[in-house]
Amino acid sequence: MSDDSRHPFLKGLSKHRGAQPTIITIFGASGDLCARKLVPAIYNLAVDNLLPADFSLIGYGRKPIPDDEFRKLAHDSITQFSRRPLNEDIWNRIEKNAHYCSGGYDELDAFVALKEKIEAVEKDMGREAQSVIYVSTPPSVFEPIIKNLGASGLATRYQDADSHTKVVIEKPFGKDLDSARHLNKVIQGVFQERQVYRIDHYLGKETVQDLLVQRFANSIFEPLWNRQYVDNVQITVAESLGVGTRGGYYEQSGATRDMIQNHTMQLLALTAMEPPVSLDPEAIRDEKVKLLKAIKPLNLDYQNSDVIRAQYTEGLVDGQKVEGYRQSEGVSPESETETYASLRLNINNWRWEGVPFYLRSGKRMARRVTEIAIQFKRPPSTLFSENEMFNLAANSLVFQIQPDEGSTVLLNAKIPGLQTRTQPVKMHFKYSATFGSNTPEAYERLVLDAMLGDGTLFIRGDETEASWSLITPLHEFWASEGQRGMENYVSGSWGPRAADRVLWEKGHEWRRP
Ligand code: BG6
Repeated sequence: MSDDSRHPFLKGLSKHRGAQPTIITIFGASGDLCARKLVPAIYNLAVDNLLPADFSLIGYGRKPIPDDEFRKLAHDSITQFSRRPLNEDIWNRIEKNAHYCSGGYDELDAFVALKEKIEAVEKDMGREAQSVIYVSTPPSVFEPIIKNLGASGLATRYQDADSHTKVVIEKPFGKDLDSARHLNKVIQGVFQERQVYRIDHYLGKETVQDLLVQRFANSIFEPLWNRQYVDNVQITVAESLGVGTRGGYYEQSGATRDMIQNHTMQLLALTAMEPPVSLDPEAIRDEKVKLLKAIKPLNLDYQNSDVIRAQYTEGLVDGQKVEGYRQSEGVSPESETETYASLRLNINNWRWEGVPFYLRSGKRMARRVTEIAIQFKRPPSTLFSENEMFNLAANSLVFQIQPDEGSTVLLNAKIPGLQTRTQPVKMHFKYSATFGSNTPEAYERLVLDAMLGDGTLFIRGDETEASWSLITPLHEFWASEGQRGMENYVSGSWGPRAADRVLWEKGHEWRRP
């Protein structure tokens, strides 16, 4: 038995073995995501014996390439990006069932040809197979793809279309509330909601799933998880990378569309939602939607704004000099796109009234770290009042989502000695120390769950709209203000000073993760 098969996560999955026969079609098969994440995820599922015995992969893209070339590209992407080395025997099993179809995303004929290809593959299998259609293209072609999936009959190949056709849609899902609503309408014109799997890859991360376990499988947290004990909550999604070669995309997106509206808001929803009545996907998503809807609209008034936006300037990251955002490839020298945003949110419900939730995300920050910090109220100061003998910190519980996955509790302890002196100390749980470090990648989990028809870790239509409802007024405000209020921060720092001020107003300060 390999070490991996003893991993508790994989043990948990073994009950899922025997997913129904599956033909997975990837739109955008010559794209970066397919090479870096999707093909390696499929390969690693094969290594763990989690693919059904009857499995076929079809790539679809605009560029005409022969099957053999697609197979070679897939082979190379596994060699380059898989978390585990390529085993030729396992690859051969995938390779002989890998095909490629080319065509435009708005060409109905090409979709009809794809349908014929899927039917031919199914005939070779000798059994009915579900279709999992993974849309991993630029968002500008989501709509024609969905419409052609409907018009070609691919979406409804079976009477019982619910269990046989699933569509997985990559981010970004819309650029504002109207476009998200429109896209939802287009999708709902072709598919039932339970056939739709909207991706937020943060939900596939092990530590994000563990957040649910830590919250709801332990009884010690729930009594403290409210406004009586929690002072504030800080969610940080920081990256040290810049925009690299993605300037063209990022100019249209910025930190709020790229990271806050989706990944960061999902972390918030899982942290703050009420306990769901069961682990049923709808029960969990109902609670997330309720939470998102309870967030008060942002105050955008400059005097007392809940939001700070900023752009990185040149600086030092990991000892290397790096250019500023406006100097990056594909970025306008007068760009008004934010590479950093921080938000102060107030949740209007019984549990959280009066507890600020601070969210921040940025590129080119001091280091790559994603964490959720629950900052507790200070104890009454009657016994250990703060003088030089008592160095007291407020307690905190920090979930380290990445890297260094784990969690940490900050406590005050007595320094050994004849005097009573105190010092904050940390209690750590580290994933790698307990479970080893070869954890499945987010996309392995998400591809598997889509095949199994489990929507828990995907975003429901109303959820994405609830999140856009909060963020869209912010974009409208910025669009009307031009550069006004845009701050700068030096690459390699923790963001603009103005973001500290928002917390000081409430007597808080950002953690230095
Ligand atoms: C993507 C964003 O959704 O998430 C990227 O488009 C970002 O800009 C990436 O770099 C971060 O993901 P991870 O898994 O590396 O934290």
